[in-house]
Amino acid sequence: MPTDVVKTSGVSCQSVTKEFNRGAARVLALQGLNLQISPGELTLIVGPSGCGKTTLISLIAGTLDATSGEISVLGQDLVHMSKREKTTFRARNVGFVFQQFNLLPALTAAENVAVPLVINGWTKAKALERAAVVLKSVGLADRMHFLPAELSGGQQQRVAIARGIVHDPQLLVCDEPTSAIDAKSGQVVMELIRGLALESNRVTMVVTHDQRVFGFADRIVSMDDGRVSGEQRQTPADANHGTEQR
Ligand SMILES: Nc1ncnc2c1ncn2[C@@H]1O[C@H](COP(=O)(O)OP(=O)(O)OP(=O)(O)O)[C@@H](O)[C@H]1O
Ligand SMILES: [Mg+2]
Repeated sequence: MPTDVVKTSGVSCQSVTKEFNRGAARVLALQGLNLQISPGELTLIVGPSGCGKTTLISLIAGTLDATSGEISVLGQDLVHMSKREKTTFRARNVGFVFQQFNLLPALTAAENVAVPLVINGWTKAKALERAAVVLKSVGLADRMHFLPAELSGGQQQRVAIARGIVHDPQLLVCDEPTSAIDAKSGQVVMELIRGLALESNRVTMVVTHDQRVFGFADRIVSMDDGRVSGEQRQTPADANHGTEQR
């Protein structure tokens, strides 16, 4: 693999492995995975349950450390960064929409969405103002002051998405962002995510099982058993943006 690929403003994974140890048991979740992701397009990651999708995007987002291999994100060498550098890098550049939402139960929707901004030094008032704008864009203008427990699953998912994008991250990773929402909300969310990918040349990766959203992708990367097993590109003409798919 040419070394200049590593300096891309996108994502580059080379021979990446991730091993989890559970007592005597060893799980090899990623087994020498190679992948390049370009900015400015929407990449979907698909594959059977347990094949390593969440593990992969967690390594790329810097929330997990690889066991071996090289990972470059936005031109930065993630593997050799100190813990502190990684935390700062993540706070500034990474939006993560978690599979299980991970909302803070004692904070309202707006307060949850404001968290990444506050971490980046915004005042609470300014952060809440911006959070309100983003919540409105995901259709939750009337739920700003609700706690997560007072929201439906789909509404919680939209709060999680708003929190993932509020600080305008250069890398956005979303784990099953449409799994808890109906087809119409799913379309709105995917249009939003695709718009974010194209605008500002952002790196945008979405893990999904949801065939209804495949039409939004520029590229679909398939994984199996901890490796990339194939990929498919869609020209804009093929991408019907989900409208004609089930
Ligand atoms: N913290 C952990 N400790 C031990 N094993 C883990 C841990 N996290 C993940 N694994 C294992 O790694 C493998 C890959 O898990 P991962 O969550 O990446 O799968 P996935 O492709 O995201 O699946 P799904 O589609 O069900 O979300 C699984 O076999 C899982 O059991
Ligand atoms: Mg997963």
